[in-house]
Amino acid sequence: MILAPMQGLTEVLFRRIYEECFPGAIPLAVAPFIALTRNLRFSTDNAQIRDVLPENNIGSIPVTPQILGKEPEEFVLLANHLYALGYNEVNWNMGCPMRAVTAKHRGCGLMPHPDEVRAILDSVVPRLQGRLSVKVRLGLKEKEDIFRMVPVLNDYPLASVTVHPRLGRQQYTGVPDLETFGEVLPLLKAPVIYNGDLCTPDDIRRIKARFPQVADIMVGRGILYNPTLPLDLSPNSSPINHHSSLTKHFIRRLMEEIQRTLPTDETKIRKKKEYWSLLWRALPLSEMQARQVLRAQVLTIVDNLIDIFTQ
Ligand SMILES: Cc1cc2nc3c(=O)[nH]c(=O)nc-3n(C[C@H](O)[C@H](O)[C@H](O)COP(=O)(O)O)c2cc1C
Repeated sequence: MILAPMQGLTEVLFRRIYEECFPGAIPLAVAPFIALTRNLRFSTDNAQIRDVLPENNIGSIPVTPQILGKEPEEFVLLANHLYALGYNEVNWNMGCPMRAVTAKHRGCGLMPHPDEVRAILDSVVPRLQGRLSVKVRLGLKEKEDIFRMVPVLNDYPLASVTVHPRLGRQQYTGVPDLETFGEVLPLLKAPVIYNGDLCTPDDIRRIKARFPQVADIMVGRGILYNPTLPLDLSPNSSPINHHSSLTKHFIRRLMEEIQRTLPTDETKIRKKKEYWSLLWRALPLSEMQARQVLRAQVLTIVDNLIDIFTQ
């Protein structure tokens, strides 16, 4: 199981506390993207690069950095910088559906442009000092994109292709198109990783049973809805054992770390609520109770409520 990159959520603070509370439960994470910019500085001023600096990732889930962008020179510079830090693989984001991103032919905006992707890979791949993997959607506006992209991807020695079987224009709505995923799977030469809407052990078992050729699965929101998902998957875990005390401890540790590391009350409140809005579902709470935290405007009240709900 691989932890999905989620900007604002699965940065190193989360990855470290997760590993502390559930050692080894998730063997690998892909880090939220580092966006290519002109004159990209590799210094510690760049928070996206800081997130993957090895010294900040001690005790964290092992991680693969991800790059968003399409400028070959900057791509090679950043990727080789990341390999020099000790990473043997870098992931290329071809799935981000945000309009501001896709409009610039970045992220999922590359999916309708196989010739552009070929030109980028032709320029970049021979100069990379480590392995490259990609993360794609089925397409931007139509699933035909992926069928035109597969022959391009197959021409390069990719470490893996992660497929999130939605279109960019769907964002995260609707359901993953498993039928099309099943058509794409045997066409790809690289090992394929499935990603999308895996929220329960049964979701994961169903995907593995239907697509035994899948090399691995990547889970994003499912881990935030249920942090003990990898443990629940174990054959020894009974359906009534929801590991609830482990979940409560994890949430408390995450909140403590936010309290310790974020600079102002405002940023602490915002970050705590961001996680709470997903994590509360893992607790035996009603939506009305959970909303009390989201409505609170004062840090001590947010903290007191979360303390009570995670006792
Ligand atoms: C808030 C948020 C931020 C995300 N950031 C990234 C990112 O930086 N890179 C990326 O490849 N995908 C990103 N994604 C997509 C996820 O990696 C994943 O593909 C998506 O959430 C579907 O998987 P899930 O149903 O398991 O959550 C993001 C998704 C969300 C909800």
